[in-house]
Amino acid sequence: MCGIVGYLGSRQASPILLDGLSKLEYRGYDSAGVCVMSDGVLKVAKAKGRLANLFGMIDGGKAITGTYGIGHTRWATHGAPSDINSHPHIADAGRIAVVHNGIIENYIKLKEELILKGKHFHSETDTEVVANLIEYYYDRFQDFPRAVRRAVAQLEGSYALGILCQDLPGTMIAVKKESPLIFGFGEGENFIASDVPAILKYTRKVVYLNDGDTVIFTKDSVRFYDAFNDPVERVPEMIDWDISAAEKCGYDHFMIKEIHEQPKAVKGTISPRIRDGRVVLDDVNLTREYLENLKKIYIVACGSSYYVGCLGKYILEKACRIPVEPILASEFRYAEPVMGKDTLVLIISQSGETADTKAALEEAKRHGARTLAIVNVVGSAIAKEADDVIYTWAGPEIAVATTKAFSTQLSVIYLITLHIAEMIGTIKEEEYQAIICELLKLDQKISLCLTPEITAKIRYYAEQYFKVHDAFFIGRNVDCGICMEGSLKLKEIAYIHSEAYAAGELKHGPISLIEEGTLVVAVATVDSLFEKTMSNVKEVRARGAEVLGITTENFETEIKKTIPSVVSVPKTHPMLQPSLTIVPLQLFAYHVSLLRDCDVDKPRNLAKSVTVE
Ligand code: AGP
Repeated sequence: MCGIVGYLGSRQASPILLDGLSKLEYRGYDSAGVCVMSDGVLKVAKAKGRLANLFGMIDGGKAITGTYGIGHTRWATHGAPSDINSHPHIADAGRIAVVHNGIIENYIKLKEELILKGKHFHSETDTEVVANLIEYYYDRFQDFPRAVRRAVAQLEGSYALGILCQDLPGTMIAVKKESPLIFGFGEGENFIASDVPAILKYTRKVVYLNDGDTVIFTKDSVRFYDAFNDPVERVPEMIDWDISAAEKCGYDHFMIKEIHEQPKAVKGTISPRIRDGRVVLDDVNLTREYLENLKKIYIVACGSSYYVGCLGKYILEKACRIPVEPILASEFRYAEPVMGKDTLVLIISQSGETADTKAALEEAKRHGARTLAIVNVVGSAIAKEADDVIYTWAGPEIAVATTKAFSTQLSVIYLITLHIAEMIGTIKEEEYQAIICELLKLDQKISLCLTPEITAKIRYYAEQYFKVHDAFFIGRNVDCGICMEGSLKLKEIAYIHSEAYAAGELKHGPISLIEEGTLVVAVATVDSLFEKTMSNVKEVRARGAEVLGITTENFETEIKKTIPSVVSVPKTHPMLQPSLTIVPLQLFAYHVSLLRDCDVDKPRNLAKSVTVE
């Protein structure tokens, strides 16, 4: 949440900062701002709302001269989205400028102390406190790095900071604790950013900073310090993916681009991990002895990643015969779950920085459980902290509503399932081979869910139903997990009230909400449960619901006897079917969102990575 960027070099800074912010807008879009050292003063421009407002205000950056500065795109936590609460924040006497991603937990106490010391505040933010605290120490020591160190030592909470001092031209300081921050090396110029896409146009050589790191840099030099303030070497990594991965490349929105990238992404997750017909997880260290003694698996995550966990329960339990409990990270961290050495905790997170998920990981480690993270963002906090990590390798996902990250997380669940089941001998060789064979074709089958015919059909149904006020998604077994994800997609980007239920649960309460015209999306792909779900469909139709059916090709004729509106997807092995079933639901949410004139990629009130509790 919130994106920060910093540039220090010889080029005009503002256009570079705006360009960087445009790649970080997915992290928050309540306001944006830049501060550039211009003619010896810290010049600030900031505007409430989307980056486009700021862009227009400063003529794409041309209006502010100066060759170094910091920029910020905000997801509001402390204080409403407004010009005054926007970053960068300048300290009272105008000597220090700060951009911040994270939360300062003790800011009220610090603010009160600073007010007593004569500092004045203008915003409601915690960040303005940081700027003033640094300035307070700067006034005392006349030493910028020392002032930063002293101030940071007093901060409680999480922060990635970019800091400028008016009295020390050509120098920038950045600090990281529990919020992501990278340093980018250029030729005669250097960068900081919350995420790689912000600076990838200018450099591929980056350092993922560690917690507690401070970087002091000019355009030609850089010094790294660790949490103890000792000078350290940080070895740069070369980014091997292309900037086009983080651009729309002709698509209208990132979401539809990412939906269409799913075949490639899923293939990229699966195929390097299948060798000679067997799953090979080089990345994990789960021995046969450990797995044979395993008593329980928790799957801990938030949002869509949690729904992958809900699907994982059906998939892992069926194949491995080990109890699996999916649990929301925000609950897990305070629920005192029973766990120990014989518990495996799977942590799922696209961003690798979700606050609740990270805290849950720490809780699991504290109790001696083994942690295995499924993460997309390389070098992220969760990836670094877990005992083992399996990267999904989906490439950057920019749309706030996840699609390809969800699909690749699910692919990792299949791989882990096969790996464990084989190790502990709960799967027959014939079944194992049947799944491997289908896994290797999964990308092609996902492509068949994205044909122009299917897209046109879904667009047609979206036109029929986009005005509904309420929607219900019903299904059984893995279809129920897919309903949760399909329902979240619809509410998230189309702002339609939507609920997902196990189809058999309807008559225990929710059916009272069904009335003439209520939309029910019924997902029925599980062979043995098809008829059961159809009975539930008949029950809601009898009460006036409009039903959209999602099923597999083999059931198409049958389902049409009950429901006229149907989308069918190819059939695959039952364990892998959710990877195909989800696609029409993603497309449905996308088209409904467009028809309702919503901001598909940046839905209201949300941000891509949720780094606050
Ligand atoms: C899904 O579309 C969401 N935007 C959201 O639910 C997301 O999956 C959740 O916030 C978890 O994020 P993470 O995977 O980065 O931890």
